[in-house]
Amino acid sequence: MSGLEKGIRMDKVCYSVNGRQILRDFDLFLEPGLNRTILGVSGVGKTTILKLLLGLLPVDSGEITIDGREISRLKQRDLILVRKKIAIVFQGGALFDSMTVGENVGYRLFEEGTLSQGEIEAIVLEKLSFVGLEQTIDLYPAELSGGMKKRVAIARALAANPDYIFFDEPTTGLDPIGVYNICNLMQRLQAEGKTTLMVTHDMDTAFKVSQRFSFLHNARLVFDGTKKELLEFPAVETQEFFSPSTKSLFVNNTIEKVTEHETKR
Ligand SMILES: Nc1ncnc2c1ncn2[C@@H]1O[C@H](COP(=O)(O)OP(=O)(O)OP(=O)(O)O)[C@@H](O)[C@H]1O
Ligand SMILES: [Mg+2]
Repeated sequence: MSGLEKGIRMDKVCYSVNGRQILRDFDLFLEPGLNRTILGVSGVGKTTILKLLLGLLPVDSGEITIDGREISRLKQRDLILVRKKIAIVFQGGALFDSMTVGENVGYRLFEEGTLSQGEIEAIVLEKLSFVGLEQTIDLYPAELSGGMKKRVAIARALAANPDYIFFDEPTTGLDPIGVYNICNLMQRLQAEGKTTLMVTHDMDTAFKVSQRFSFLHNARLVFDGTKKELLEFPAVETQEFFSPSTKSLFVNNTIEKVTEHETKR
């Protein structure tokens, strides 16, 4: 076991939905202790990558390896153990509206049934205090602001003590203080040795918390590297992402143009 590579790896992953290719030979390595950000326009397949990594969707071909173990080859029992290393903070937070904040955070632990009520309560309080929200333990999600909901969702993700945490657009829709809080939390998690993967359009946050960047465009990985390399990368896809012009990638007919350009290469 000790000789197995730590980290999460995608190797030549292909994935299609309804005949449309979302990923073509997609590679990714999530290095232990670092934060990687996946960038790309809306609808390109960023959330899909997270779902594939969690085993919620099956790959068409290629391999996904978590701490050296290829997930499609694992028996159900081993797959559950490997999955426990990962937690995800979903795009909308995805809290259960009918449960209190405390119940939401402790949900997975209650489901597992291995800890006592008192032990779970202690963990819930610790995780809520990590995100600065212990005073909300008896409130319902409807009584929280958007930023607070995201922090509760982070506390819930942390409750199971995962090695890897995925964040899907964690700062979208937040005010500057909310964004600051999330950035700060992600930096503290990294200082504690957690490995994090983020999907975002928020470049300020990405540049503050991330050391590695992957850029997905038209089903392909067009860039993989550091912030400095990304800013200097000459491809039209990434340049347009940072400063959309009238020929923006966000306009459909330009997507076709870029496809032509790619096929010519
Ligand atoms: N269950 C599904 N059935 C059919 N198509 C789907 C399904 N889920 C996703 N898709 C399609 O797959 C593509 C990728 O979706 P995904 O949610 O991964 O994009 P995204 O990059 O996360 O977008 P956003 O930035 O808007 O969250 C989209 O074009 C979407 O329409
Ligand atoms: Mg998404």
